[in-house]
Amino acid sequence: MMTVTFDFAALTPRERYKLLIGAVVPRPIALVTTISRDGIVNAAPFSFFNCLSADPAILALGVEYRPTGPQKDTGRNVRETLAFTVNIVSDAIAEAMNICAVPFEPGIDELAAAGLTARPGAKIPCPWIAESPAAFEYRQHTTLGIGNSREIILGEVIFAHFAANAVDPANHHVDPAALDAIGRMGGHSYSSTRDRFDLPTMSVDDWWKPESNKRR
Ligand SMILES: Cc1cc2nc3c(=O)[nH]c(=O)nc-3n(C[C@H](O)[C@H](O)[C@H](O)COP(=O)(O)O)c2cc1C
Repeated sequence: MMTVTFDFAALTPRERYKLLIGAVVPRPIALVTTISRDGIVNAAPFSFFNCLSADPAILALGVEYRPTGPQKDTGRNVRETLAFTVNIVSDAIAEAMNICAVPFEPGIDELAAAGLTARPGAKIPCPWIAESPAAFEYRQHTTLGIGNSREIILGEVIFAHFAANAVDPANHHVDPAALDAIGRMGGHSYSSTRDRFDLPTMSVDDWWKPESNKRR
């Protein structure tokens, strides 16, 4: 196979961004709800986002950070209150999520603008979004300053809300069809999770039986 190579030291930040967001796909989307010190609710989507550990239950959010000038409300609110909620984005709320990404002035209620319903948090003051199929309440664990343009917020989950049809409380199995999550691709593109297949992880014994490694 012919290859094209890139020395990242020779690229601009924008070029690195385009290569990374185009190839690391699909990325899950966190619609993050926060609250300011003054009690103003904020919502914004983040796809520099993933679950990194289950014990403790830790996720990471990459929030753009400017050493000078206006900060994203999400980063500022987490610094002030040490709490945030991640609302999983289903296909049904894709357009509402996109409204939450509009760079409104601080003080504008994005949830109201997007027609989404805020419900009071159980353990933290940030609301969760009733239309989201799953929402996780987080306490800030650590914030990593990783340079001039990003901070990485690590949060620990302390509470979860699920739509009743999206999880079986007896065995904690989450139904991906009911969740109907979307992912972020490069540019302004998204993917759905409606086309899925199973490929069980194999034991060494399974590996001797080629039929074990068939998609189903
Ligand atoms: C799908 C999607 C994913 C995004 N991911 C990120 C991200 O990972 N980091 C980031 O800083 N901004 C990201 N943005 C942009 C923010 O959502 C946008 O700047 C928003 O206005 C920030 O709002 P805030 O100032 O209320 O926090 C994303 C936007 C969209 C639509």
